[in-house]
Amino acid sequence: MLKFPKDFLWGAATAAYQVEGGNDHADWWHWEKKAGKENSGSACRHHELYELDFELARGLGHNAHRLSVECSRVEPQEGKFSEEALKHYVDVILALRARNIEPMVTLHHFTNPVWLADLGGWEKRHSADYFLRFSEHVVRALAKHVRFWITINEPTIYFSHAYFFGVWPPQEKSFWKAMDVKNHLAAAHIKAYRMIHKVYAELSLPKPAVSIAQHMQAFVPCTPSSKNKFAAFLRHKWFNLSLIDTFARHKTLDFIGLNYYSRILVELEKWGLRNFVADICKSDHHPVKKNSLGWDIYPEGLCDLLLKLKKYNLPVMITENGICTPDDNLRWEFIAEHLKCVHQAMEQGVPVAGYLYWSLLDNFEWDKGFGPRFGLIDIDYKTQQRTVRESAVKFSQVCKTGILS
Ligand code: FCB
Repeated sequence: MLKFPKDFLWGAATAAYQVEGGNDHADWWHWEKKAGKENSGSACRHHELYELDFELARGLGHNAHRLSVECSRVEPQEGKFSEEALKHYVDVILALRARNIEPMVTLHHFTNPVWLADLGGWEKRHSADYFLRFSEHVVRALAKHVRFWITINEPTIYFSHAYFFGVWPPQEKSFWKAMDVKNHLAAAHIKAYRMIHKVYAELSLPKPAVSIAQHMQAFVPCTPSSKNKFAAFLRHKWFNLSLIDTFARHKTLDFIGLNYYSRILVELEKWGLRNFVADICKSDHHPVKKNSLGWDIYPEGLCDLLLKLKKYNLPVMITENGICTPDDNLRWEFIAEHLKCVHQAMEQGVPVAGYLYWSLLDNFEWDKGFGPRFGLIDIDYKTQQRTVRESAVKFSQVCKTGILS
């Protein structure tokens, strides 16, 4: 029987574009069509059904919920802010508060307004200032009701997928462009962090807690060759930690938001820049169970990463951890095994403040469309019928009692 602290935050995470539907001012919306991908369309219609969804979360004992604000709704044209969209997000936050669910708000979760993409997106230095202006509008509108902020979701995944691997809009494949974007995202976070604290001080509100949600992977050398060991070490330093190091140095993290899903077996074909960044074992040596996208299930990686974060002396919040699978027993096994690892890390002195499962609902999984099922709640996309999964009920016992038995 494992006991978690009384004030532990329990819940799930979502992102606006993946659940809301109808986000036709976002760059993704247009890219889906251009690239011949499945369209996000009306997604889970969460934009209108959010109260229903939060009612389900409340019933499941969640006391926290991570959501994002869709920037293309709030600023559909450059410099023109939609009061209606801002009011919508105030209503959304109040709907959570009314159910005693602590909101955690993300300002950037992969999408951009079309106008920003047309101006060169994150490749351009001005992106950080556009982000700052947008963020200040949102923060001023929501500050009274929000304590936890995530400025940018998974900056490393965003710049690598969109600018290095070229699989997300704008499909660039340039290491140097990716590095520019990384720097602009870093500048954007630092500016937004300072702005958020300034706004709270100005409004005489208690200090907020601000961070990013950093995607980290367990980089494991496939064989103990020095090439693979060195590459795994570098990838951990570079992919997992370099932004956290920068932000810790600038004192712009109040906690560490950690998104964890999987293991990467590092196996270099040859020495080379691209090989160093991207080579993985292709033969499934050391096989483990996988999710429906083929990602390795590797809970011990979470404990290991948490222990590696101890040196920062900051609380850690699991801002995403989840599995897409048609096998709901495997989902519960996944959650339970990862929670055991969280508990183990806490016993070894890592201050973990909460666990947010990805995701509350099945949703639009970016370039993979609606196929992968990550939700605690099943969505029938034809009828928009919600059905709570058995794994969600089992997880709710932990949320309600703080005990994993
Ligand atoms: C994370 C993203 C999230 C979702 C999950 C499966 O990388 O932050 O939006 O797509 O993966």
